[in-house]
Amino acid sequence: ILIAVLMGGPGSEREVSLASGKAVLQALQEEGLTAVGVDVTDTTPALPENTGLVFNVIHGTFGEDGELQAYLESLGVPYTGAGVEDSRIAFDKALSKAVFLEKEVPTPRSEILDVSGGAKLPSIPVPFVVKPPREGSSVGIEIVKEQAEALPAIERGAKFCDDLLIEEFVEGRELTVGVLDGVALPVVEIIPPDGGSYDFATKYTWLSGQKNASNYICPAEISPEETAIVQAAALKAHESLGIGVYSRVDVLLNYLGNPYVLEANTIPGMTASSLLPMGAKAAGYSFGGLCRRISELSWQ
Ligand code: DAL
Ligand code: MG
Repeated sequence: ILIAVLMGGPGSEREVSLASGKAVLQALQEEGLTAVGVDVTDTTPALPENTGLVFNVIHGTFGEDGELQAYLESLGVPYTGAGVEDSRIAFDKALSKAVFLEKEVPTPRSEILDVSGGAKLPSIPVPFVVKPPREGSSVGIEIVKEQAEALPAIERGAKFCDDLLIEEFVEGRELTVGVLDGVALPVVEIIPPDGGSYDFATKYTWLSGQKNASNYICPAEISPEETAIVQAAALKAHESLGIGVYSRVDVLLNYLGNPYVLEANTIPGMTASSLLPMGAKAAGYSFGGLCRRISELSWQ
């Protein structure tokens, strides 16, 4: 079959997606599969003749939120990753939060702040995190530690949408866990640069031009008990959202050893240095092997 690797897309993560897409395309070809890349620039992309499977690597709006999935369903073409409704819920941090609460997935306390009438303070006290609920790669996210920063940060957030997610700030280790075929992969720990945070600039120094990059450790240097707790929380989050083949779940571990799930990413970064591939590598998958496995599981 011909695999069409869809990359780019019209959203704010376009450049990240192009990097993921090129890496996946090359890896599939090196695995001996027949694959072509499609740089997607609008919401009704034409697929090559004979496309038997779409490998979707479009992060963020359109590619990750169910819209592309619905379009592919209308064409009758199978695709990698979560289905229409599961994508829509997983991509929306506020909708995911409601599922996590209902299914008892541990997650930071939060509230939805309606800023349609202008910026205002939430009932959660500082420190808190302001998140536009439908973005990826930390776009628009701000950590607010001082009261004086609160309203300006919410004003900036209100430029994204009217329904900001305000989340209690959890101090702890930043971890992420790939889930593949019902199994949680080895845990990756993210070490932001000194004095910095794990944001768009320190995630993608190759794109932002920033010098101080975040560092990553896999397997994370946490105890076997903590590893099991974090993996269980990640798997539970993945399953509660009905995601299926694969995702990457972001989890904080506080100093008491309690896990807090932030979100599940249904189209996680897929460059050779991205974090799902890093976890998969520690479980014995080459990058090409991971791309092949995702294709096989999605094709079945
Ligand atoms: N949204 C980025 C690509 C990620 O989760 O890896
Ligand atoms: Mg995300």
